[in-house]
Amino acid sequence: MSRLRALILAGGFGTRLRPLSCTLPKIMFPVAGRPMIELVLSNLYSNGVDEAVLAIGYMADVIRRHLGRRFEGMRLHYSLEETPMGTGGAVKKAERFLRDGDFFVLNSDIIASPPLQEILSSHVVKDAAATIMLHRVKDPTHFGVAKIDRSLRIERFVEKPRRGDAPSRWINAGVYVLDPEVFDYLPPGRKASIEREVFPKLASSRRLYGYRYNGEWFDIGRFEEYKRANRAALSRLSRNEPSVGSDVRVHADARLVPPLRLGPRSRVGAGATLGPYSSVGESVVVGEGSKVSGSILFSRVHVGKNSHIRNAVVGEGAVVGENVRIWDGCVIGDKVYIHDGVRLVHDVTVCPHKEVTRSITCPGVVT
Ligand code: GDD
Ligand code: MG
Repeated sequence: MSRLRALILAGGFGTRLRPLSCTLPKIMFPVAGRPMIELVLSNLYSNGVDEAVLAIGYMADVIRRHLGRRFEGMRLHYSLEETPMGTGGAVKKAERFLRDGDFFVLNSDIIASPPLQEILSSHVVKDAAATIMLHRVKDPTHFGVAKIDRSLRIERFVEKPRRGDAPSRWINAGVYVLDPEVFDYLPPGRKASIEREVFPKLASSRRLYGYRYNGEWFDIGRFEEYKRANRAALSRLSRNEPSVGSDVRVHADARLVPPLRLGPRSRVGAGATLGPYSSVGESVVVGEGSKVSGSILFSRVHVGKNSHIRNAVVGEGAVVGENVRIWDGCVIGDKVYIHDGVRLVHDVTVCPHKEVTRSITCPGVVT
């Protein structure tokens, strides 16, 4: 079998995941306790891909330091962009790694189980220049949208159509097979969008095909979806037992309610309850009598006594005092300090390093 290669587009700023993406690149966000890029790479490897190129720019060092040169049995290369080249520019820049034959391209913020070999077979049978994995959604307006004919040929491709202009509900699911001829459609050395500049042209030359994917699919680019992806990943863990990392200390009177992921070196005090549907990073401390449910706590979060975190996301190293309430839709930035007794009732976002001294009962942003 010939070598299979994949390019992972991982240079986005993660704008819609601010403020947490100000200090951690989107692909390093934990999903059920693992940086999401590891889920993407693992899926590639189990589908027979043996070399992957990561197209990176924003926070490239953090990514490279974490992943290095190998992942499972796969070789990793990096295509570094000094300035963001856009999805098309990133593909063109990585040409030297990829020009030997058909290759995969993946948006790095997608959690799904794409059947890559099947998509590739369909691509070869149709003699396509590009094959896009498609997924059906209710509202296609945030996505690239494809109109397909009976043979799965994409007749039209429209990126982010206005409401009412979407030609179908089949969207670009962020996974492609490309023939190296696609490089000829991309200008060298400038920013370009493959979705806006290349796919419509390939559609008019009748060389663009779709592959319909009906499995679970998440674009974690927005908090709601990120939380949904975590929930789905957690529900695949055991419902009978929590998943607990090494060197964890849980008081005999604490309750761990699955599905739950509790990272290594964490500490849970007496009378505390963690879970269900929570993902807690490494070296997290949850004090006596505190409760964490339906939430994602990044690493090194410290929660004092008798606090309650529900349906929220708390960034790395944040300190939550005693008797604090952080509820539905709140997002707490890295290293934020929340004073004792503060209540953040719903949809409050706190920027990194801020101190919150007073309760906030309506949606807003603390900057
Ligand atoms: N290397 C590199 N350089 N990567 C980039 C750049 C860049 O300049 N800009 C964006 N990316 C990466 C992002 O990190 C992400 O993995 C992917 O390209 C797509 O960018 P997003 O910013 O997440 O785009 P989107 O979610 O609005 O839309 C895209 O994904 C949808 C599916 O979730 C499009 O491909 C849509 O057509 C698609 O439906
Ligand atoms: Mg996205």
